[in-house]
Parts: sequence; structure tokens; C-alpha cells
Amino acid sequence: MDSTVLECRQQGGAVVELLEWDAGTYDALPLPHKRWGAAAIARLELSGSETVLDLGCGTGRDAERLLGLLPQGRVIAVDGSAQMLRELRTRLASQLDRIDVLQADVREPMVLPRPADAALSVATLHWLPDHAAAFRTVAAVLRPGGRFVAEAGGAGNLATFRTALRAVSGADGSEIWNFAGAAETTDRLRDAGFTDIDVRLVEDPASLERGEQLEAFIGTVVLGAQLRELPVDERRPFVHAVAERLPEPVLDYVRLQISARKQSVP
Ligand SMILES: C[S@@+](CC[C@H](N)C(=O)[O-])C[C@H]1O[C@@H](n2cnc3c(N)ncnc32)[C@H](O)[C@@H]1O
Repeated sequence: MDSTVLECRQQGGAVVELLEWDAGTYDALPLPHKRWGAAAIARLELSGSETVLDLGCGTGRDAERLLGLLPQGRVIAVDGSAQMLRELRTRLASQLDRIDVLQADVREPMVLPRPADAALSVATLHWLPDHAAAFRTVAAVLRPGGRFVAEAGGAGNLATFRTALRAVSGADGSEIWNFAGAAETTDRLRDAGFTDIDVRLVEDPASLERGEQLEAFIGTVVLGAQLRELPVDERRPFVHAVAERLPEPVLDYVRLQISARKQSVP
């Protein structure tokens, strides 16, 4: 079967407007997401025949790793960005018979083409304003007993970076990002029907080289939403001004790491 591509539409029929990503630049950067994804996948403890949902799959880096661990299994790759999914299809062109690719806004309830045995989400939850709703969505598509493993920016994430951002723009990104704490996340997971819940906040700063590398990283990975609101010719100077205000070329990441299991039917 070929990969399935679905258009995501809101109830009224309007196409949902989501942040588009510069997928080519994204993949060329020294992304800590590579090890975040690998560590999260290891926590899934896959046997090799599962169908795994990757929520906010981006360019398919983790989907590729998953397929390598799933000789008899499949991946359902979901993302809202057409550019990211185009890159994913190119990366995984020879394996599309084992992937369902869905363009969807995960803020909305989802209908998957098949049930999921496990679910993964890397560096995506902090883009979602309502984690309780997102966890209910995952619980709804996961089979009873299925594992949910996720990681994202958590409480305290990018505190130094956000101070620099506030100095330049007057806003620190809290109107855009949702950096949740461990206790509230645990409560939301339990309320959504998860058990065996383990949620941690882990400091994990990423060091970059000042100049082109740092600014490409900030412009592509961190400030996409802010830049979208600016005229094109003001974007580079804006990123440069924020980078110049950082005391070190470091993004002071704090990661929210989630492991949970959907309750089994009693
Ligand atoms: C930082 S990227 C992470 C991508 C990938 N998981 C990785 O680790 O490289 C965040 C991803 O979340 C997706 N995303 C953000 N909000 C979304 C939404 N509401 N619905 C669907 N995808 C969304 C973006 O399109 C983007 O691909």
C-alpha cells in the first residue's frame, strides 16, 4: 500500500493554518533532537511488530529509526507542516509501503487509518496550547496497554534565551510556547486515562558556534513563529539581535520527559 496523505480540515471545512517549517535547513543543523528522539524511542521498548504513531514527526528522522526497529511493524507519521512531510517522503521514499503519512493538526481529534500499539512525540508538545486535549487524543488512538513516550520543552525551558528575546522584542515567547511542569503533566496524563506515569524535567543545554550556525538554529528551530509575524527583511536582524544578547552561544534547554501506558481494559 502507498503512503496515505490526508488533508486536515476543521469542522467548518477551513484548512487549519499551522506554522510552516524550513525543512531543508532544519535537517542540516546540529540538532539535539537527534539524541532526544533516540532516547525517547529506546523507552518504547519495541518488540518489532508494532504500529507506532509519531506525533509531530517532522522530517522523518525518528520514523526512519523506528522502521529500523520494526521489521514486521509500521509507522503512522503525523505532522501539520507540508514542508516537513515532503522531506519525510523523500527521506523514506523506499519504505513508504510501511508508513501512513498524515497531514493533520494534532490540536484536533484524529482519525488514524489503523490502531496504534505505541505512540511517540519528540519536540512537539510545547507547540500545543492544550496538553490535556493532546493526551486525550493520544489515549483515544492508542490500544489499551500501549506505551506513550514523549519529550518536549518543559518548565524553565530556554530561560536565558527568553530573557534575550524579551529584551529585543518585549515578549518572551510565553504567548506561543507551552512549557509544562512535571506535576501538572502527570495529572493530565492520569486524567486522560494513562497509568505507569513517569514524568521528569531534565536540563540539557545545547552549545552552538556563534555566528551563522547559532543564528540559523535560532531562526529555524526556535523563533519560527515570531519571525512569521515580521517582514522578511527584518527577520535576520531580529535573530542577530537576540543572538547577540545571549551571554554564551548556548540554548538552555530543559526537557519534559514522559513515559506512560494507556490503561488496560479491566
Ligand atoms: C521541533 S519540530 C520536531 C519535529 C521532529 N519530531 C523532530 O524531533 O525533529 C516540531 C514539529 O511539530 C509540528 N507541529 C507543531 N504544531 C503542530 C500541530 N498543531 N499539528 C501538527 N503538527 C504540529 C511541526 O510542524 C514540526 O514538524
